[in-house]
Amino acid sequence: MRNNLRAAEKRILLVLLLAGITFLHYSTDQGQYYFHVFYGELYLLPIILTAFWFGLRGALLVSATISVSYLPFIILHWQGLSAEDLDRILSLLMCNGLAVLTGVLKGREQAAQEKLLQTENLAIMGRSLAAAAHDMKSPLMLIGGFARQILKKIDDKNPARLKLDLIIQETEKMERMIRDMLDFSKPLILNLVRGDLDAIIRNSLTKVEEAAKKKNVSIEYEPNTDVIDIKFDCMRLEQVIVNLLQNGIEASPEGGTVTMTLLFKSPGNLILDVSDNGSGIPLFKRQQIFDPFFTTKKEGTGLGLPIVKKIVNAHGWSLQILDNSNSGTIFRINLMEANARDHIHK
Ligand SMILES: Nc1ncnc2c1ncn2[C@@H]1O[C@H](COP(=O)(O)OP(=O)(O)OP(=O)(O)O)[C@@H](O)[C@H]1O
Ligand SMILES: [Mg+2]
Repeated sequence: MRNNLRAAEKRILLVLLLAGITFLHYSTDQGQYYFHVFYGELYLLPIILTAFWFGLRGALLVSATISVSYLPFIILHWQGLSAEDLDRILSLLMCNGLAVLTGVLKGREQAAQEKLLQTENLAIMGRSLAAAAHDMKSPLMLIGGFARQILKKIDDKNPARLKLDLIIQETEKMERMIRDMLDFSKPLILNLVRGDLDAIIRNSLTKVEEAAKKKNVSIEYEPNTDVIDIKFDCMRLEQVIVNLLQNGIEASPEGGTVTMTLLFKSPGNLILDVSDNGSGIPLFKRQQIFDPFFTTKKEGTGLGLPIVKKIVNAHGWSLQILDNSNSGTIFRINLMEANARDHIHK
């Protein structure tokens, strides 16, 4: 059979198969027991084909159609629960069971294939990104460096200062983008130590202070006084917190508040929450926002959250997105979920 049948052709073939087998049942004398057993088994063919072509839902639809069309035959020739009646009921049950089984197996196989394809695509994208970012890094550093040197040499009243400032700002932005691209595409090598969590959080807060001030967003931090004994990569954790805080600030309305909390919810649950009062993230978008380059911002790169996810996964932690009670979002990381399993993550 051609492998590249179109969906419509597949449907027609299935309808013909179902109608043909049902016709054979009804047109063959019911005394011809073995023929009916054979037709019953023939029903498995459209079920398996549907499961492969259309997944679980299609297979269930076909098995329901078989039940509806075969049931009148069973009722019509009912002999008071004879061995033949039982055979027919069992064959119907088998059809339905097989539909579920093949549908589920096919669904799993498809999901695994999609994941593999996504991983391969990400790997290809990562390699191209790394190459492009690497080539752009040196010229950019040169431009930024020269602009800074010239700025130091010209006097305050020179109108060229404004333009130089702009060049410096823009190259800094591009340098940040390149850093993100390299971080995203390179394997992550964790340097796990028992670091000072509170100090890392405070450092991260300092890094976003300026952005928060510009937007008139206040940042609140509720530290934890318990002894915290976990291992992590200090630089990478700071990167996670800065990215989440930055997103929180950007999502906040003027005068809003971004809150950072660190608390032991229960033994084995050390929760780091970054919450904001922005417009929130609808459920259907919560997967998409981790796709590389997905952004809704004019100046965004869309690499912040993919990097966050990569670092969180590398540590074996979990990341959840929750609705904030009034409005906005909570990004929650459980820092005790698991210890980092492997120190290198692609
Ligand atoms: N706290 C939040 N509230 C609402 N939407 C958010 C929040 N955090 C992230 N998002 C959404 O997820 C998208 C992806 O975020 P991500 O951090 O990956 O990229 P970005 O912030 O757009 O750009 P950048 O690379 O500069 O971080 C954002 O553009 C935004 O639409
Ligand atoms: Mg971001």
